[in-house]
Amino acid sequence: MTQQGSGALVTGGARGIGRAIAERLARRGDTVFIGDLGATGAATAAELSAAGLSVQAMELDVREPESLAEAVASVEEVAPLATMVNNAGVGWIRPLIEVTPQQFDDLMAVNLRGVFFGIQAAARAMAGRGGCIVNTASTSGFTASTTPMVPYDTSKGAVRMLTIAAARELAPAGIRVNAVAPGTVDTDLTRSILDDPGVLESQAAERIPLGRLGRVTDIAAAVDFLSSADASYVTGHVLVVDGGWLT
Ligand SMILES: NC(=O)c1ccc[n+]([C@@H]2O[C@H](COP(=O)([O-])OP(=O)(O)OC[C@H]3O[C@@H](n4cnc5c(N)ncnc54)[C@H](O)[C@@H]3O)[C@@H](O)[C@H]2O)c1
Repeated sequence: MTQQGSGALVTGGARGIGRAIAERLARRGDTVFIGDLGATGAATAAELSAAGLSVQAMELDVREPESLAEAVASVEEVAPLATMVNNAGVGWIRPLIEVTPQQFDDLMAVNLRGVFFGIQAAARAMAGRGGCIVNTASTSGFTASTTPMVPYDTSKGAVRMLTIAAARELAPAGIRVNAVAPGTVDTDLTRSILDDPGVLESQAAERIPLGRLGRVTDIAAAVDFLSSADASYVTGHVLVVDGGWLT
């Protein structure tokens, strides 16, 4: 199950953690596709291509199973999909007594449904030849966020179980399914949901044993490992990358 030169699709790859994953997989030789909303991935793909990497962008909305299926089919026209990274996610802070049914459904449509149908689309393509799927969970799937984010935490807990259950079902087909669970990583998402960005730095000093926020490259390295031949006996695993936050 070699990954070199094979196709990789990274959802939510236009920025943040997804962008770092796309770059990392391209540097190891994968033909990488960034799937993101509208044209947001195009500029990122252009920047990475200018650096000599094989990265292309496609419009993708993970809320739509059809969109995921089309994205996988587009990758397969160029290179067999060997690595699927279900990374797109959204999050916001809101007390649970204020969350509307629509807001709840919108979040789950990206964070949970999008991962489920991403796995399904990839598994249909990988059936018969095997492959790797890596989902982006979160430490929020293990312990409640320090701010009110119950729907988000719930979605990430569900991604943990989805990863484990899908791994068991797909193992006989040679498809490994794992997840990364980042702690607090310095990205647009993290900064956008906090009123006071200074909270991040104080949190790093006080709560993270390794004394710093996560970098997007820390998460990309874990995804690289999980989708490499070195992890060929690893499936159903949720790799926590959090500087010791959960300890
Ligand atoms: N930043 C953190 O501290 C942190 C911690 C744990 C887990 N995570 C998870 O990591 C993942 C990436 O987070 P990030 O911090 O890089 O976020 P980000 O907001 O910087 O990037 C998310 C990307 O997903 C895309 N996206 C959103 N909805 C989409 C949809 N419907 N279809 C396709 N693409 C969509 C966005 O356009 C964006 O490019 C998310 O799943 C997030 O929950 C982040």
